Amino acid sequence: MDNFIFNAYTKIYFGKGMIKNLPEAIEVHGKNVLLVYGGGSIKRNGIYDEVKTLLSECKIIELSGVDPNPRIETVREGVRLCKEHQIDVILAAGGGSVIDCAKVIGAGYYYDGDAWDLVVEPNKITKVLPIVTILTLAATGSEMNKNAVISNMAINEKLGTGSMNMIPQASILDPEYLYTLPAIQTAAGTADIMSHIFENYFKKEEDTFIQNKLAEGLLETCIKYCPIALKEPENYEARANLMWASTLALNGLVGAGKPGSWTCHPIEHELSAFYDITHGIGLAIVTPRWMRHILNEQTVGKFVAYAKNVWHLPEMTDPFAYANAAIDATEEFFKNCGIPMTFSEIGINEEHFEVMAEKAVRIGGLGEAYVPLTKEDVMSILNMCL
Ligand code: NZQ
Ligand code: ZN
Repeated sequence: MDNFIFNAYTKIYFGKGMIKNLPEAIEVHGKNVLLVYGGGSIKRNGIYDEVKTLLSECKIIELSGVDPNPRIETVREGVRLCKEHQIDVILAAGGGSVIDCAKVIGAGYYYDGDAWDLVVEPNKITKVLPIVTILTLAATGSEMNKNAVISNMAINEKLGTGSMNMIPQASILDPEYLYTLPAIQTAAGTADIMSHIFENYFKKEEDTFIQNKLAEGLLETCIKYCPIALKEPENYEARANLMWASTLALNGLVGAGKPGSWTCHPIEHELSAFYDITHGIGLAIVTPRWMRHILNEQTVGKFVAYAKNVWHLPEMTDPFAYANAAIDATEEFFKNCGIPMTFSEIGINEEHFEVMAEKAVRIGGLGEAYVPLTKEDVMSILNMCL
């Protein structure tokens, strides 16, 4: 196990009605609030009105219309509003896109140049305005982590940035807020949670028993509860377990002490940069193909553990057959959740494969992945997805 620093300082208010703590979470930072939200789901499900009532003592400036795959243009507008109105604290109400946008706005407030610099060069992030979140989609873990992913569609770039100073100060996690999610967002969100776990579970480091067991438990949680949430959108137990899984999957716990690059995420970021697709759908399509591509004598043992401890498949004498059964189960699971499982279903063809593969390897550092990948490897994975 490598040395690591773990500092997930976000105060979590978890459960039904916990939004009542919003004034306390906000006002400790000040009363000038930038409220950041997306295309209007928080207006339709009542969160917006609740926020306005609870924060009646605050001055609220609004930044709405944050796109899924948030754009740098929106970040720039947010920075402008923060500077103009001397904002004290940013309240992000939405999914990962809204929270990520808020984080980079918070960093941009203390930066004199263009906010895109902070995406390309995370070491330019110094201070960040306090971020408080109200989570409405279980997926990214952004509610308790240091990451933000911002798109610049003009140049087909979708890049991750990060700073310990961007970790939210507080997050309100009310599972009932997930009830209004469209089924495909519940499914894609779960695929994202699972991918965050896979990216750390399938790593070279072997002496991380505790991280591996945490990972297996979280994967089992997703496999158990996503189908229930899809069938019964207002099943509190299912929503609560998925919501907490999203947070724990990417708050630094599962990946602690496990160095090396991720694989499916850099590939997905290229898909979104060119085709503006839903992050979790891209991951669900790529993941089983990546698993098949990297299955070999060195990795088969890990896939056997995955088959046994996560899927609880009946044991087989041939380890490769057993590993493949687990990969089949993964693919089947995503399909049964209603996720389109080929590129052709979501309008992607091979036109940009070469440039996407080159960028994924270079920007994502795929040479340092669990199984190092070249541009040709990525192209062959992409071709399997067609
Ligand atoms: O915009 P609104 O109207 O709010 O609608 C959103 C959006 O259309 C809707 N939605 C969210 N909560 C809802 C709801 N609709 C009804 N009821 C609710 N309760 O869902 C749509 C998707 O929202 P979005 O925020 O884009 O989804 P997600 O949370 O999956 O975030 C995806 C973004 O996060 C990045 C992704 O790349 C992508 O840009 N990621 C961020 C990470 C991080 N910060 O650590 C890590 C991830 O790997 C990921 O890369
Ligand atoms: Zn993700």
